[in-house]
Amino acid sequence: MKAVVVYKTRYGSTKTYAEWIAEELGCEMRDAKSVKAAELKEFDTVIYGGGLYAEMINGVTLLTKNMDILSGKKLLVYTTGLTPLDCRDYYDKMVMEKNFPPEIRDKFKVFNFLGKMIISELSLPHRAALKTLKKIMSGKENPTEMEKLLIELCDADGDFTDRSAIADLVACASAQ
Ligand SMILES: Cc1cc2nc3c(=O)[nH]c(=O)nc-3n(C[C@H](O)[C@H](O)[C@H](O)COP(=O)(O)O)c2cc1C
Repeated sequence: MKAVVVYKTRYGSTKTYAEWIAEELGCEMRDAKSVKAAELKEFDTVIYGGGLYAEMINGVTLLTKNMDILSGKKLLVYTTGLTPLDCRDYYDKMVMEKNFPPEIRDKFKVFNFLGKMIISELSLPHRAALKTLKKIMSGKENPTEMEKLLIELCDADGDFTDRSAIADLVACASAQ
Protein backbone atom coordinates (compact mmCIF):
# COMPACT_ATOMS: atom_id res chain seq x y z
CA MET A 1 0.00 0.00 0.00
CA LYS A 2 1.35 3.40 -0.92
CA ALA A 3 -0.37 6.04 1.19
CA VAL A 4 -0.14 9.77 1.66
CA VAL A 5 -1.61 12.08 4.27
CA VAL A 6 -2.62 15.47 2.90
CA TYR A 7 -3.66 18.09 5.43
CA LYS A 8 -4.88 21.66 5.51
CA THR A 9 -4.58 23.56 8.77
CA ARG A 10 -5.09 27.06 10.17
CA TYR A 11 -3.85 26.65 13.73
CA GLY A 12 -1.99 23.34 13.68
CA SER A 13 -4.23 20.60 15.05
CA THR A 14 -4.94 19.01 11.67
CA LYS A 15 -1.20 18.93 10.99
CA THR A 16 -0.56 17.30 14.37
CA TYR A 17 -2.94 14.46 13.44
CA ALA A 18 -1.29 14.19 10.00
CA GLU A 19 2.09 13.76 11.70
CA TRP A 20 0.74 11.05 14.01
CA ILE A 21 -0.98 9.18 11.15
CA ALA A 22 2.03 9.41 8.83
CA GLU A 23 4.27 8.15 11.63
CA GLU A 24 1.99 5.17 12.36
CA LEU A 25 1.65 4.24 8.70
CA GLY A 26 5.24 5.05 7.80
CA CYS A 27 4.01 7.14 4.89
CA GLU A 28 4.61 10.67 3.69
CA MET A 29 2.55 13.72 4.49
CA ARG A 30 1.98 16.85 2.44
CA ASP A 31 0.53 20.28 3.05
CA ALA A 32 -2.53 20.68 0.80
CA LYS A 33 -1.31 24.18 -0.07
CA SER A 34 1.33 22.67 -2.33
CA VAL A 35 -0.52 19.62 -3.64
CA LYS A 36 -2.25 19.31 -7.01
CA ALA A 37 -4.80 16.52 -7.41
CA ALA A 38 -2.80 15.00 -10.29
CA GLU A 39 0.10 14.42 -7.88
CA LEU A 40 -2.09 12.02 -5.91
CA LYS A 41 -2.27 9.58 -8.84
CA GLU A 42 0.74 7.62 -7.61
CA PHE A 43 -0.90 6.66 -4.28
CA ASP A 44 -3.32 3.77 -3.59
CA THR A 45 -4.58 5.37 -0.38
CA VAL A 46 -5.18 9.07 0.08
CA ILE A 47 -5.89 10.35 3.58
CA TYR A 48 -7.12 13.94 3.71
CA GLY A 49 -7.44 16.01 6.89
CA GLY A 50 -9.11 19.37 7.30
CA GLY A 51 -10.38 21.50 10.19
CA LEU A 52 -14.11 22.21 10.38
CA TYR A 53 -15.08 25.82 9.74
CA ALA A 54 -18.84 26.47 9.77
CA GLU A 55 -19.33 22.75 9.03
CA MET A 56 -17.08 22.86 5.97
CA ILE A 57 -14.00 20.62 5.89
CA ASN A 58 -11.16 22.98 5.06
CA GLY A 59 -9.97 22.26 1.51
CA VAL A 60 -11.65 18.88 1.02
CA THR A 61 -12.68 19.96 -2.49
CA LEU A 62 -9.15 18.92 -3.49
CA LEU A 63 -10.68 15.42 -3.38
CA THR A 64 -14.38 15.96 -4.02
CA LYS A 65 -13.81 18.01 -7.17
CA ASN A 66 -11.28 15.57 -8.60
CA MET A 67 -13.04 12.23 -8.41
CA ASP A 68 -12.03 11.37 -11.97
CA ILE A 69 -8.36 11.43 -10.96
CA LEU A 70 -8.99 9.60 -7.68
CA SER A 71 -11.22 6.79 -8.87
CA GLY A 72 -10.28 3.34 -7.58
CA LYS A 73 -8.27 4.69 -4.64
CA LYS A 74 -8.99 4.20 -0.97
CA LEU A 75 -10.13 7.64 0.19
CA LEU A 76 -10.13 8.43 3.90
CA VAL A 77 -10.98 11.84 5.32
CA TYR A 78 -10.58 13.09 8.86
CA THR A 79 -12.03 16.23 10.34
CA THR A 80 -10.77 18.16 13.34
CA GLY A 81 -13.28 20.24 15.23
CA LEU A 82 -14.68 21.19 18.59
CA THR A 83 -18.14 19.63 18.33
CA PRO A 84 -18.34 16.71 20.79
CA LEU A 85 -17.83 13.42 18.99
CA ASP A 86 -21.11 11.98 20.26
CA CYS A 87 -23.08 14.54 18.22
CA ARG A 88 -23.53 11.96 15.49
CA ASP A 89 -26.30 13.86 13.67
CA TYR A 90 -23.93 16.78 13.31
CA TYR A 91 -21.08 14.70 11.90
CA ASP A 92 -22.94 12.00 9.99
CA LYS A 93 -25.66 14.20 8.52
CA MET A 94 -24.79 17.90 8.49
CA VAL A 95 -21.06 17.65 7.83
CA MET A 96 -21.51 14.82 5.31
CA GLU A 97 -24.28 16.63 3.41
CA LYS A 98 -22.39 19.93 3.28
CA ASN A 99 -19.11 18.45 2.06
CA PHE A 100 -19.89 15.38 -0.04
CA PRO A 101 -22.41 15.46 -2.90
CA PRO A 102 -24.72 12.41 -2.64
CA GLU A 103 -23.34 10.72 -5.74
CA ILE A 104 -19.82 10.47 -4.29
CA ARG A 105 -20.56 10.16 -0.55
CA ASP A 106 -20.01 6.40 -0.45
CA LYS A 107 -16.52 6.74 -1.93
CA PHE A 108 -15.23 8.19 1.36
CA LYS A 109 -14.71 6.83 4.84
CA VAL A 110 -14.81 9.78 7.21
CA PHE A 111 -13.34 9.98 10.73
CA ASN A 112 -13.87 12.79 13.25
CA PHE A 113 -11.30 13.97 15.75
CA LEU A 114 -11.28 16.71 18.36
CA GLY A 115 -9.14 19.72 17.51
CA LYS A 116 -7.77 22.77 19.21
CA MET A 117 -8.89 26.34 19.66
CA ILE A 118 -6.77 28.80 21.59
CA ILE A 119 -8.84 31.99 21.58
CA SER A 120 -5.80 34.27 21.98
CA GLU A 121 -4.26 32.77 18.80
CA LEU A 122 -7.31 33.26 16.55
CA SER A 123 -7.24 35.71 13.67
CA LEU A 124 -9.40 38.81 14.05
CA PRO A 125 -11.90 37.66 11.38
CA HIS A 126 -12.26 34.30 13.17
CA ARG A 127 -12.77 35.98 16.52
CA ALA A 128 -15.35 38.29 14.97
CA ALA A 129 -17.14 35.34 13.29
CA LEU A 130 -17.43 33.50 16.63
CA LYS A 131 -18.66 36.64 18.37
CA THR A 132 -21.35 37.18 15.72
CA LEU A 133 -22.41 33.54 15.83
CA LYS A 134 -22.68 33.65 19.61
CA LYS A 135 -24.75 36.84 19.45
CA ILE A 136 -27.16 35.37 16.89
CA MET A 137 -27.58 32.10 18.81
CA SER A 138 -27.95 33.86 22.17
CA GLY A 139 -30.74 36.01 20.72
CA LYS A 140 -32.93 33.00 19.86
CA GLU A 141 -36.03 32.65 21.97
CA ASN A 142 -36.17 28.87 22.03
CA PRO A 143 -32.73 27.65 21.04
CA THR A 144 -32.37 23.98 20.04
CA GLU A 145 -29.89 21.77 21.88
CA MET A 146 -27.50 22.21 18.95
CA GLU A 147 -27.81 26.00 19.12
CA LYS A 148 -27.14 25.94 22.87
CA LEU A 149 -24.07 23.81 22.23
CA LEU A 150 -22.84 26.24 19.57
CA ILE A 151 -23.02 29.10 22.07
CA GLU A 152 -20.79 27.08 24.42
CA LEU A 153 -18.38 26.08 21.66
CA CYS A 154 -17.80 29.72 20.72
CA ASP A 155 -15.98 30.08 24.06
CA ALA A 156 -14.17 26.72 23.99
CA ASP A 157 -10.52 27.36 24.66
CA GLY A 158 -8.03 24.53 24.71
CA ASP A 159 -6.22 21.71 22.97
CA PHE A 160 -8.36 18.58 22.73
CA THR A 161 -6.18 16.65 20.27
CA ASP A 162 -5.81 12.99 21.16
CA ARG A 163 -3.38 10.61 19.51
CA SER A 164 -5.34 7.52 20.53
CA ALA A 165 -8.26 8.71 18.37
CA ILE A 166 -6.42 7.82 15.14
CA ALA A 167 -6.46 4.05 15.77
CA ASP A 168 -9.54 3.28 13.63
CA LEU A 169 -8.31 5.38 10.73
CA VAL A 170 -4.87 3.75 10.85
CA ALA A 171 -6.48 0.28 10.93
CA CYS A 172 -8.70 1.17 7.98
CA ALA A 173 -5.77 2.53 5.98
CA SER A 174 -3.70 -0.57 6.73
CA ALA A 175 -6.45 -3.10 5.87
CA GLN A 176 -6.08 -4.83 2.48
C1 LIG B 1 -14.34 30.63 12.83
C2 LIG B 1 -14.33 29.20 13.33
C3 LIG B 1 -15.33 28.34 12.93
C4 LIG B 1 -15.34 27.02 13.40
N1 LIG B 1 -16.35 26.18 13.01
C5 LIG B 1 -16.41 24.92 13.53
C6 LIG B 1 -17.47 24.04 13.17
O1 LIG B 1 -18.34 24.34 12.36
N2 LIG B 1 -17.49 22.82 13.76
C7 LIG B 1 -16.55 22.41 14.66
O2 LIG B 1 -16.65 21.30 15.18
N3 LIG B 1 -15.51 23.21 14.98
C8 LIG B 1 -15.41 24.44 14.43
N4 LIG B 1 -14.35 25.26 14.72
C9 LIG B 1 -13.21 24.73 15.50
C10 LIG B 1 -12.08 24.26 14.56
O3 LIG B 1 -12.55 23.29 13.69
C11 LIG B 1 -10.95 23.66 15.39
O4 LIG B 1 -10.35 24.72 16.05
C12 LIG B 1 -9.95 22.85 14.56
O5 LIG B 1 -9.06 22.19 15.44
C13 LIG B 1 -9.18 23.70 13.58
O6 LIG B 1 -8.20 22.94 12.93
P1 LIG B 1 -6.93 23.62 12.25
O7 LIG B 1 -6.35 24.57 13.24
O8 LIG B 1 -6.00 22.49 11.96
O9 LIG B 1 -7.39 24.32 11.02
C14 LIG B 1 -14.32 26.56 14.27
C15 LIG B 1 -13.29 27.45 14.64
C16 LIG B 1 -13.28 28.75 14.19
C17 LIG B 1 -12.18 29.66 14.61
